[in-house]
Amino acid sequence: MSTTQPKRHVAIVGIGSYLPERILTNAELEKMVDTTNEWIVSRSGIRERRIAREDQATSDLAAEAAKRALTKANIKPEDVDLIIVATLSPDMPFPNTACFVQKLIGAKNATCIGLEAACSGFLFAVDAASQYLLTGRFKTALVIGAEKLSTVTDWQDRTTCVLFGDGAGAVVLQARDSGEGILSTVTGSDGTLNALLNIPGGGSRNPASLQTIEKRMHFMKMEGKEVFKHAVRAMGEAARRALEKAGLTIADVACVVPHQANMRIVEAIRDRLGVGPDKFFINLDKYGNMSAASIPVALDEAVQEGRIKKGDNIVLVAFGGGFTWGAMVVKM
Ligand SMILES: CC(C)(COP(=O)(O)OP(=O)(O)OC[C@H]1O[C@@H](n2cnc3c(N)ncnc32)[C@H](O)[C@@H]1OP(=O)(O)O)[C@@H](O)C(=O)NCCC(=O)NCCS
Repeated sequence: MSTTQPKRHVAIVGIGSYLPERILTNAELEKMVDTTNEWIVSRSGIRERRIAREDQATSDLAAEAAKRALTKANIKPEDVDLIIVATLSPDMPFPNTACFVQKLIGAKNATCIGLEAACSGFLFAVDAASQYLLTGRFKTALVIGAEKLSTVTDWQDRTTCVLFGDGAGAVVLQARDSGEGILSTVTGSDGTLNALLNIPGGGSRNPASLQTIEKRMHFMKMEGKEVFKHAVRAMGEAARRALEKAGLTIADVACVVPHQANMRIVEAIRDRLGVGPDKFFINLDKYGNMSAASIPVALDEAVQEGRIKKGDNIVLVAFGGGFTWGAMVVKM
């Protein structure tokens, strides 16, 4: 006689987020660069964003979000055996930012990994952590998306500086036999398009020098129009494939939490999936694009506001520099 083993999934057992207090409004940006509130709102949907204090590094934002997620999960820091921090604005080139978070929260038994996949970083980090949890190598993972993008934003470049903000979001993950958790994941990358969205200076290609600083190469560069086209296509397709892999349709989904880059990108994805505004959770008007932090912060708010409830099927979908993209269907 054979018994069927219940399928193991990786479940989100706690969520937390942290946003710096300081709000930078579009009206303030009007005084910094040649722009208008009307232009920013109509082209991006962003009204304000948060800016971290000078004395806060990315790990400080990450640690706050992590503590809140652990409290929600009712798990002690010493019971965490894996920390992955996704960020494109690390505290330093090394050690990786997860090591700083480990120290700040006292997760002394954790293995610490940094992961860089730009705005897809959180989704890629959850996927990586899931593999460790499914093999049984680790039991409890803390996955954090955290960014202090204000340090890599060129505050003289109106085409980018209006779009980004600082923040952090975290989830605690454990494998479960209960049927809840990550039902499917789709990821992809296209390195041939790396030049469309990047920070060209400060790495081994263009090490820091007086010249790289003069050329402002340590700030984010973006070909907005091109990124826009690829983002819509890749996110729409990834969400569709993830649903197919999970054996679900968009009608089975309570809420889509997309990477919060731009309202017009979100609208175009909604059209591709054939759903109305109610199905998407959006908070980019308050925070702008926080890269790896966008999805976990939005997920936390969606749960807190009751937009996502236990048992709901949700879709997380991301796109970022690299290019990188992915989607995940999760039963909460
Ligand atoms: C950045 C983005 C909002 C720009 O919108 P757009 O409609 O493509 O605008 P364009 O880049 O064509 O610029 C149109 C004009 O507005 C100007 N402009 C750019 N930024 C401006 C600003 N902040 N304020 C006022 N005018 C601005 C441009 O200089 C250009 O002027 P020109 O026609 O005289 O040259 C849009 O391309 C976008 O959302 N891209 C995706 C960005 C993104 O989300 N990236 C992250 C993905 S992870």
